[in-house]
Formats: sequence, C-alpha cells, structure tokens
Amino acid sequence: MTVSQDYRPPTGEYRSFSQYKAIEYSAYFGTEFEGVDLTQLTDQQIEDLKVILAERGVVFFRGQDNLVEEKHIELGGRLGEHHVHPSWKGPRGPIFVAETRQSWANHWHSDVSFDQETPVKYSILKMEQLPPAGGDTAWASAELAYYKLSPSLRAYLSTLTAEHDSALTFGANSSNPHTGNDFKEEFGKDKPRFPRAIHPVIRTHPITGRQAIFVNRGFTTRIVELTKSESETLLNFLYNLIDRGQEFSVRFRWSLNAVAIWDNTQTQHKAIGDFLPNDRKGFRVSTKSEKPFFDGERKAAYPALYETEGWQRVLDINPY
Ligand SMILES: [Fe+2]
Repeated sequence: MTVSQDYRPPTGEYRSFSQYKAIEYSAYFGTEFEGVDLTQLTDQQIEDLKVILAERGVVFFRGQDNLVEEKHIELGGRLGEHHVHPSWKGPRGPIFVAETRQSWANHWHSDVSFDQETPVKYSILKMEQLPPAGGDTAWASAELAYYKLSPSLRAYLSTLTAEHDSALTFGANSSNPHTGNDFKEEFGKDKPRFPRAIHPVIRTHPITGRQAIFVNRGFTTRIVELTKSESETLLNFLYNLIDRGQEFSVRFRWSLNAVAIWDNTQTQHKAIGDFLPNDRKGFRVSTKSEKPFFDGERKAAYPALYETEGWQRVLDINPY
C-alpha cells in the first residue's frame, strides 16, 4: 500500500452515506448513521466508508441484528484483509471475542499496535451482551491530540520510534490485575505469542496524510532513542494528553447488536470499566493495516482539517 495510491482529497461529506441520518458526536470526530444495514452495503459504500473513517475516526450503527457471525466476517473481508490476533487465537477464526467480563481493555490503546508488520486497521465490534449498567466505550482522536502540540514538539516526536509489547496487556505478568491468571488458562501452553514491534511515535494516515500520536498506554513500553527516565516522562506526557482530551474524544452508549467501526491508525479507545462484576461481551472482526510509517511530506498535500479556524478556536479554549 502506498500513500499516493490511497490519497484522496477530503470533502467532509458523507458521500453515498448522505442518504442516512447522521448524528455527529462532535464537530470533528465520531458519527452515528441511522437506518444502515451493514450486510447490504454496495461496493461504493465500502469505499466511501474507508474515507469517512479516515475523516471521522469512528462510526456507529445500531440494530445490526442481520450482521451474524458469517456476515460480520464477510464485512471485514470487504474492508480489508482479515487480521487474526497473534496473542489470542480463539475457536472462531478471525473473530476476536472482545471485552468480556474483564476490564483489561480499560486503558487507551490502538488495537494490536504490537504487531510489527500489520497492526489492526479497522476494528468492527458488535456488542451482543450488555451489562445492566455501564460498559460504554470511549474513542479519542490521536490526530487531534497531535494537533494540540507545539510545532517544535511535533517535529521532535516525528524523529522517534517506540516499542510496543503485547505482554504489557496480554502477558501472564501483565500489570493489569484482571489479566494474568485468566489469560494464562485461555492461552494454554502452546498458544501464547507475545509479539513486540518498533513503530514511529508519529504515524501518518495513508488516506489523509495527517499525522497522529501512535503510542498508547496499553501496549507501548518505551521510546527507543531515549533514556528510561526520559522515555517514561515523555510517554506519560502523551498518555495524559489523550486522557485529558475530552474535546477530542467521544463515548458510545451501546445497545444490543450495535456496531462500532473505527480506524486504529489515528484513534485510540478504551472500554469504560464501570460494569463489573457484570458481563459484557462483544465480537470483533479486524483487518490488517499497512506497516505504520511517518511521512512528513504528506502534511502539505492534505491541508489539515484541524488547522481550520474552528479547530484553532477549540485549541484556544482547551490549552494543554
Ligand atoms: Fe481494543
């Protein structure tokens, strides 16, 4: 996948989805479409959905009762090549059973960012069991977060790379108290694989050419070029920026058979862990992304939406 092949100019429109009612969760990020049946999308709508995801980060569709397992897998295959989780191989092929009774996804992350060649691009999560209360998912735009930083810091961050390690979340010795023992049993002795990867700290989106912060609290362990102390300080600064970013995050209240699709290139998400001890179960089909890259030249080719007067005003009233 090359940047030039994928580049398309932004329109800020919903193209073949404009026939549906769109509920925008914020001015810049997150849209819910009403009246869509995800099993009936045309080829044009699949292509348009990729561009909408590039521009809006995450989209929501409720009442997707028709998206049964086989159709769910099929939808993933239409959006890209299936990504099979390297650290969790369940009995259902490309279906990843996500966010069950445990709260291990209760920290900001980009799905499978520890995969060296092909982290997850699109995640398609369908919620099939709801707790009586709580259990929302939040998404943050790591792209909008990037555009809160000073040009000097942006330039410096673009020179760095970071290590991502699946063991941080999925390993038996994970710092997440809910993870270790349960996952040890689930992996079995011959199944565990805990990949590590080195990726640029700032990642370029292949469609828009915009930049986004690509380190996350769930999987990133260190910035390669810095000392331990420098790395921890800078990573915590970036994590805190995402944590505090209510002006560039949205929260989705699930309903039965609702589906969220997001682009992991420029977003992070977390399951809000406020539903325990009740269960919550979703099923996720994911697609492979390109190998993460940084390309500073692309910025000029695609004028950032966030350099508009509107986003500048958002920055003015939400300084960091
Ligand atoms: Fe996730």
